[in-house]
Order: sequence, then structure tokens, then C-alpha cells
Amino acid sequence: LRRFPLKLVKGVPLMEPIADGWDIVENFQAFPDDLIISTYPKAGTTWVQEIVDLIYNDGDAVKCQRAPTFVRIPFLEIISPPPLPSGVEMLGKMPRPRIIKTHLPFHLVPRSIWENKCKVIYVARNAKDNTVSYYHFDRMNKTQPDPGTWDQYITKFIKGEVAWGPWSDHVKGYWAEKNNHQILYLFYEDLKENPRQQTVKILDFLERVLPKDIIDKIVELTSFSSMKNNPMTNYTFFPKNLFDHSVSPFMRKGEVGDWQNHFSEQQRQLFDRAYARWMDGVDIPFRDLL
Ligand code: A3P
Repeated sequence: LRRFPLKLVKGVPLMEPIADGWDIVENFQAFPDDLIISTYPKAGTTWVQEIVDLIYNDGDAVKCQRAPTFVRIPFLEIISPPPLPSGVEMLGKMPRPRIIKTHLPFHLVPRSIWENKCKVIYVARNAKDNTVSYYHFDRMNKTQPDPGTWDQYITKFIKGEVAWGPWSDHVKGYWAEKNNHQILYLFYEDLKENPRQQTVKILDFLERVLPKDIIDKIVELTSFSSMKNNPMTNYTFFPKNLFDHSVSPFMRKGEVGDWQNHFSEQQRQLFDRAYARWMDGVDIPFRDLL
């Protein structure tokens, strides 16, 4: 394993193995009962994956947590060096209904997913916390490009020169399309503020009903502390040459507003100017940014 360079796919920088195997991803065949969980990296993917998998398993933690998140919910576009299976290969062996993770921006999502009218849960996180979380992730994930210093990373993030491209295109792409498809658009900050309410929102979107006590149990099992301490969800099952938790744990802080501990006044101003450009004329209700 090594830190892969980024290569453009239709204008979006992706890790080299994904770009090289792009036709496999592009030709992915969906089923109508596939559920897609889509996010910009570090927006709360693993959290929502766990909520959804517990819903699919009626809150049965033993059944749900029989295997690591990565195995239960394949990562659509991931192409690992052989002999590790690709996401598409893993999905070919999954029983239906499948839950699928992706970080692909809207315009790179395989066409079959829209043709089959699959439901998509999208999670967005405020730009500054997302930047901080991605920076620490790129330090510990030894296959992503080296983030450099925090100051260098902010510039790269603003330019969108990070894996899966610009944050702004990602959140805006799904927002613009959310009424044209079955897309539930969630926010990390709402999940933090009221996880139960957001879990019920997901249940409604999935047209599922669960008893009150099971919903309570799901909320408890998907709290930050539960997931941080659960070896099936905290990514400690990855080898150290892939994820080095001693650099920064995958379950790092799980908070809203941690950006305030990272941005200097000058960095904040630089970021705010870029943010104003991105969001000009766009009305996505992000919170906790100022
Ligand atoms: P931090 O780095 O800010 O701690 P993803 O799953 O998309 O990679 O996102 C990871 C981020 O979500 C990390 O953010 C992680 O700590 C946070 N996270 C994961 N599970 C969480 C939970 N149950 N509650 C709150 N935050 C969670």
C-alpha cells in the first residue's frame, strides 16, 4: 500500500486505482432495492451507515455487527490492489437488499442507480468541520495523498485538489438534484442535535416502522462513544499500513464546531471568501459556520 496520486475522472480527482478501473465503476448494475449512502468524505458516512444497517436488521446489534462496516456495506468505487476485492465485486456477492456506500459526486454516480430509481441518503457536513476532519483523515489514511501542513491543506481543500474533488460541487450537486430523484438530504449537525428525530426521518424515508424501544436502542448503539468503542465500526480492523490510528483515530472527535480549534483568523477569512463564492445564489441550510 502507498499514498496514491490523484487522477482526473471527468474533471474529478480520484485515487489512481479508482481512475484506472473507472469503467468497472461506471458500468455498475444496480437493483431497484439498492440503498445508496452518499457523502463527501468525512461528512458522517459511517454514522449513517450504522443507523441504516441497524434499521435493516430491526435493531439487532448481534446480527448487524457481525462484521466490520466495510464488509457489510461495500464501498462502490473502491478498487484496491489485488488480491483485495473491488467494491463492485463485493456487491456482486451481497444478498439483496443491498446498502451501498459512495463518495462519488452526483454527476459521477453510475447511471444504473438513477435508471433503477434507487433511494439515496445524502449526508452533508458544514465545510469547515468537514475540512478539519478530512485533514486528520488524510494524515492517518496511508493511501490518500499526503495532506501536508494544516495551512497547506486548507489551500488544497479550497481548490478542490483532494480525493473526490471540491466539497462545494459535491454538496451543491446533490442539493440541485434532490427533488428529481429519491434523495434524502441530511446534515451532520442535525444528526448531532437530534439523532432520534433524524433516525425517524431515515425510517420514514425507507418506509419502515420500528417500535419505540428499538429506535431508542439504535440511537444508543450509534452514539459517538458506542461507535468509537465498537471494533466493528471504528475501523481498527484495518491494518496499520492502511489506517494509522496512532496518528489520528478514525473516530476522532465527532463534534460540531471543532474547526474553531484549528482555523487562525487569517485562515478563516481566506476560507470565508471562498465559501461566499461557492454559495452565491445557493440556499443550502448549513449551520455552525461563523
Ligand atoms: P471527526 O474527524 O470530526 O471526529 P466519515 O464516516 O464520513 O468518514 O466521517 C467521519 C467523521 O464522522 C469523523 O469526524 C467521526 O468522528 C465522525 N463520526 C463517526 N461516527 C459518529 C457518531 N456516531 N457521532 C458523531 N460523529 C461521528
